[in-house]
Parts: sequence; structure tokens; C-alpha cells
Amino acid sequence: MYENVVKKIREADKIAALTGAGMSVESGIAPFRGEDGLWNEFDPQEYASLSAFRKDPDKSWELFRLQIEECSRAEPHEGHHSLVELEEHGLNSVITQNVDDLHQKAGSKKVLELHGNLSELICSSCRERVKTKDHLKYILDGDIPHCKCGSIFRPDVVLFGESLPLGVLRKSQHEAERTDLLISIGTSAVVQPAASIPTLAKKTGSVLIEINPKRTVLTPKVDHFLKGKAGEKLSGLMERL
Ligand code: OAD
Ligand code: ZN
Repeated sequence: MYENVVKKIREADKIAALTGAGMSVESGIAPFRGEDGLWNEFDPQEYASLSAFRKDPDKSWELFRLQIEECSRAEPHEGHHSLVELEEHGLNSVITQNVDDLHQKAGSKKVLELHGNLSELICSSCRERVKTKDHLKYILDGDIPHCKCGSIFRPDVVLFGESLPLGVLRKSQHEAERTDLLISIGTSAVVQPAASIPTLAKKTGSVLIEINPKRTVLTPKVDHFLKGKAGEKLSGLMERL
């Protein structure tokens, strides 16, 4: 199975990756769906939507605090490092739905963050930005950071009911259209518009590879399905390249 994928990677000039929450599971960050998914415990409409945040920011901050706590402890795993190495074999960009900064921490050069990043906070009124790490202790103690203007901060991530950053989405679509091969890693591929990135790549002639321990809605459309964990499968690929 690896052999066919290795051959396709060698043949490709341009490679792109799309990553989802499953990419970070081996770094100790919970995914959203499935057995240990956050959305079993937190209804996304009640905690992670713009209207919920406006109505009851304390409630949304319960979820943000948990995510910030998990991410502050997490380190990239061998899969993240493999994606950095893959740049030598043509990987141009990592398009990610993750907000944990782990691709950047590993050293990936071009990361397109479709859903923002938890490492910055943005004021809900004046849009002032600050580093989450400068307020970490306060947040982990159960407090909600406030801006100089008096309003509360929120993480600079996309909430349900908000649009994705348009420039990042456009760039991601452009990468999908020009890539020869796209690897979708650890995403259930159900949240739009990120979920349409692999199908856009396929429509414009790209080979599609998927890495996931479970089949997804994308699996019937891919050329090669590598069943397993991101770290294990990506390092397995790199060893054979
Ligand atoms: P999901 O939680 O929907 O899906 C995670 C996927 O990772 C599933 O298909 C799992 O089978 C797979 N998985 C689990 N462990 C894995 C491992 N070790 N290696 C590889 N794959 C593994 O996460 P996303 O698809 O990223 O959006 O979810 C998309 C968006 O939905 C998120 O960005 C978030 C959420 O609502 C927002 O918050 C805006
Ligand atoms: Zn402010």
C-alpha cells in the first residue's frame, strides 16, 4: 500500500496537505467528533457559535479554556515533523483546520489556517490583538481576559456562524487547484468549506491520498486510503521516500 503512495509522491511536483483534528490526537489534543470528541460534551451551537458567545461568553470561555489548556501543553509529534520533511519532496503548503499551532511549532513553512489560531486573543469590540501566552495563567485560573477598552477578549478562531478568513480560504483553494497530489490527514471532512478542498483538488486533476484510522465521507473519492494514525502513517511514508 505504501509503495503505491510513495510512487505517486515521487511523481508529483506539487504536493499539498489538508489536516484536521485527528492530526493532533497523538499530541494529546481531543478531536471534535467520534468517541472522545469534544462535541459529545460541548454542544457546538451552545459553546462555539458567535451567537452563543454574544449571549453567554462565560460559557464559551469554558470551552476556550479547555482548548487553550490542552494546546499549551501539546508538542508536535512525528507526523508533524514528517510534513516538514515532505517539503523537500514537493510539499508546498499545509492547509489546516487546526487552531493549535503545532504545524508552525514543528517548522512547517507555509501553513494556511482556515479556522484561525488559539495563540492570539482578539478584543470583541476594538479588535486589539494580544498573545494568549501572556494571559495564560489568568485564563487557566478561571478568569476571562479583558481588553484595555473594557470589552472581553476571545481566541482568534472561527466560531460557527462566522465566515472563514477570506484570503486564507482563497489561497487554500488556489493551492488545491494547482497541486498534483493532496493528502487529507485526520479530518472527518464534514465541515464546509474546508471539506471541499480535497474535492476541488480532485476536480482539477490531483491525486488524492487519505490518512485516517477510520473511513470518512471522503474515502470513496480518494485514490489511496492509508488506514491508521497520522504519526505512524506519515513517518512510514517518509521512511520509504
Ligand atoms: P473531527 O473531530 O470531525 O474529525 C477527526 C478525524 O480524525 C476523524 O475522522 C477521526 O477518525 C480522525 N482521527 C482520530 N485519531 C486520529 C489519528 N491519530 N490520526 C489520524 N486521524 C485520526 O475533526 P475535523 O475534521 O478537523 O471547526 O473537524 C473540522 C472542524 O469541525 C474543526 O476545525 C472544528 C469542528 O467544529 C471549528 O471549530 C470551526
Ligand atoms: Zn478592546
